[in-house]
Amino acid sequence: MYNTCMLRLKKNSDKYGKLVPIEGENDIPFKIKRVYYIYGVDRTVCRGFHAHSKLHQVLICVNGSVKIRLKNNSSEEIVFLEKPEEALYIGPMIWREMFEFSENAVLLVLASDYYDDNEYIRNWDKYVDLAESIFGKEE
Ligand code: TYD
Repeated sequence: MYNTCMLRLKKNSDKYGKLVPIEGENDIPFKIKRVYYIYGVDRTVCRGFHAHSKLHQVLICVNGSVKIRLKNNSSEEIVFLEKPEEALYIGPMIWREMFEFSENAVLLVLASDYYDDNEYIRNWDKYVDLAESIFGKEE
């Protein structure tokens, strides 16, 4: 889907364990201004249900697994995150829902800017209107 892609991070693996470094602008396509993580989510919970008008994010499931539903005004896809070296880039104007968190799942999120509630689009109809005005209407 446009404005999204999978990034494969470099995993350093030796007899002492594994290490995955992430450098802003080198390993991911933006400067990291904020980091947060989501955990302790029951398997029955679905969260997200929003798009961001400006924010760039990278999602990494550093423990366990989670599914991410990506939607725009004309298509939908589901990404399964289950490896700490797999990162999902989500650019602006992509609707996302996170669901089926496994037990002990930890979803790490890297963001291009500080938290700003004003740039969240939480209403699906409003999102579709905006997306159609930007990307065009699917006939
Ligand atoms: P929210 O973005 O709604 O979570 P999700 O989309 O995963 O369901 O955020 C949940 C709460 O946490 C909400 O009250 C806002 C707060 N929050 C912050 O204070 N800072 C942050 O960086 C984020 C992402 C959320």
